[in-house]
Amino acid sequence: MDEAYFRHYCGYGPYDQNYLLHSGIEHCISIARRLDLRIESVLVLGAATGRVLEHFERSWGVRPWGCEISEWAHARIPGRFRRRIARRDMRDYLPWLLERRRRFDLLFTNSLVYLSAPELPEFVGRCSLVAGHLHFYSSTSEAFEPGDRYRVTLRPARWWRRLFAGNGFAPTRSPYVWRSERFAAG
Ligand SMILES: C[S@@+](CC[C@H](N)C(=O)[O-])C[C@H]1O[C@@H](n2cnc3c(N)ncnc32)[C@H](O)[C@@H]1O
Repeated sequence: MDEAYFRHYCGYGPYDQNYLLHSGIEHCISIARRLDLRIESVLVLGAATGRVLEHFERSWGVRPWGCEISEWAHARIPGRFRRRIARRDMRDYLPWLLERRRRFDLLFTNSLVYLSAPELPEFVGRCSLVAGHLHFYSSTSEAFEPGDRYRVTLRPARWWRRLFAGNGFAPTRSPYVWRSERFAAG
């Protein structure tokens, strides 16, 4: 994703001023509290300029680990967070974490919409090994930038449910939070 994606986020304007309209981050934090999840470590796949990292720090005093594919956005992540956020594609980053036996209480991502259908089952299976819970939210915006370059295929909620349920996750009381069936804290 290049600068235009973040400057015209969802066709409205700068990412930092508009991300809350599309993120699900506040929702994630309030659901985790309602479900009484114990969160001491967080993984963010697709951290953008780091705004969502600030929410986790404010709410739980946690500085997440994670990755961001865009050089432009990654360079704008505040320094105190950036050292834990790799400038990498999450498809390469996740196996790297698994090789190092890294484990997290919660994985936050709304970037799975950018992966193709054939690659998602294996990717989601890996997510179930790395995190105890997954918060997934998919915006209903089809394009995150006016030029159509980052158009995503919108899929119905039941498509995502089948994907998570078939690849290592069990439902919780919230349709946005999934509990890993394979996770063994390491
Ligand atoms: C819809 S934005 C969401 C940003 C942030 N998570 C939020 O809630 O505001 C998606 C982010 O994922 C990043 N991204 C997309 N594909 C990625 C990939 N394969 N690996 C890592 N980051 C990716 C984009 O550059 C962008 O910053």
